[in-house]
Amino acid sequence: MKVAIIGQGYVGLTISAFAAKHHQVVGFDLNATIVAQLNKGISHIEGISSDDIKQSIYAGNYKATSCGVEIAGSEIVVIAVPTPLDADRKPDLTYIDSACKVIAENLSGPALIINESTSFPGTIRNYIKPTIVKYSRQKFEHEYAISPERVDPGREDFNQKNTPRLYAGLTPEATARTRDFYSTFCDNLVEVSSPEVAEAAKLFENTFRQVNIALVNELAQISHALGIDVRETLDAAGTKPYGFMKFSPSAGVGGHCIPVDPSYLADVAEKAGVEATFIKRANEVNLAMPTYIAGRVEKDNGGSLKGKKVLVVGVAYKPNVADTRETPAELLIDALRDLGAIVTWNDPVVGSWHGAESSALAGADIAVVVTKHDVVKSEDILKSAPYVFDTTGKVKGAVQL
Ligand SMILES: NC(=O)c1ccc[n+]([C@@H]2O[C@H](COP(=O)([O-])OP(=O)(O)OC[C@H]3O[C@@H](n4cnc5c(N)ncnc54)[C@H](O)[C@@H]3O)[C@@H](O)[C@H]2O)c1
Repeated sequence: MKVAIIGQGYVGLTISAFAAKHHQVVGFDLNATIVAQLNKGISHIEGISSDDIKQSIYAGNYKATSCGVEIAGSEIVVIAVPTPLDADRKPDLTYIDSACKVIAENLSGPALIINESTSFPGTIRNYIKPTIVKYSRQKFEHEYAISPERVDPGREDFNQKNTPRLYAGLTPEATARTRDFYSTFCDNLVEVSSPEVAEAAKLFENTFRQVNIALVNELAQISHALGIDVRETLDAAGTKPYGFMKFSPSAGVGGHCIPVDPSYLADVAEKAGVEATFIKRANEVNLAMPTYIAGRVEKDNGGSLKGKKVLVVGVAYKPNVADTRETPAELLIDALRDLGAIVTWNDPVVGSWHGAESSALAGADIAVVVTKHDVVKSEDILKSAPYVFDTTGKVKGAVQL
């Protein structure tokens, strides 16, 4: 089948790489630099190798493009564009809107349109379908379905093939066609009774993590105040073989999913007249962690960070990836600067960030570890400053969160 994948980022390129083993894939992205790189066979996503892309190109099964007309003739269109929050932390569907426009204006026949972007229940039925109908000049009767993405970039044990995938269509035919499409490259498909259930399940999966991360971050603060080692407490609780799932304290949450998706659920809840109190409180706790950490570091260093050289180690939001979206390192740097510190950062995996290059892992008065990549050795971190504060639990010998 000819398949168009709208958006060639983490989700879109991953799905493209798997789909291109069985279908003819056109990867549409507005970013001309990404498109040019992809057509040279260069991957920009962890977990998808450049060799994979090259093989699909040589087999004639993959092409990236910024040109909307190239999606004409597609039988399946998958939407994988960003769904961020706006300045008021409300759902921002502008990328979905522009994807709908490209689809509506360029499809040359009826197609199955599947949304993989994370959004609130009702998005495919009440937003994507009407938006495509509004923009469509040709008025084809498309089918619509949802199959939320669960990819975890950089993860090796679970991928597109072996991660169970939820799906549901707006009609029985859309559901059946969605199953047929994904079954060509996914082993485990889970049909649910409506697109809204699939959309809500995706949001709840990430809300579950957000709330539990906040809870454990609160426990870290309580434990410190009581003089108890939080990680030993969590290891101890983790010996219970049922009814407990271990989460670890951290500098906060980052990436596209955990800091964002719960607010999509909170927003739709509010519109339905329900206050999402857990989600709001969890957001507050996680967003306050950088300020809490800066306060601890200040207290340990004579009550003032004025003029002190502070090195933030690891600015990616998680280990071994270069992704800095919503990274708590950003809020931590702000909090440290507010206390008068002179802040630099080191992250060889990220390399450059906000137009600046990674600083040396040396010569600081204070180092604060936000993310510990495997390539950054603990002994080098410990040598980088006389005082090292570790939020990850991985740098033994440092002051622990
Ligand atoms: N990254 C993850 O781990 C992950 C996991 C599950 C779900 N998701 C969800 O998947 C969606 C996509 O996330 P991502 O991480 O792939 O984002 P991304 O930023 O990595 O990639 C999105 C791509 O879409 C392109 N784009 C934006 N508007 C476009 C348009 N109108 N037409 C074509 N291309 C357009 C951008 O240039 C970018 O390359 C989001 O809803 C996200 O919440 C992400």
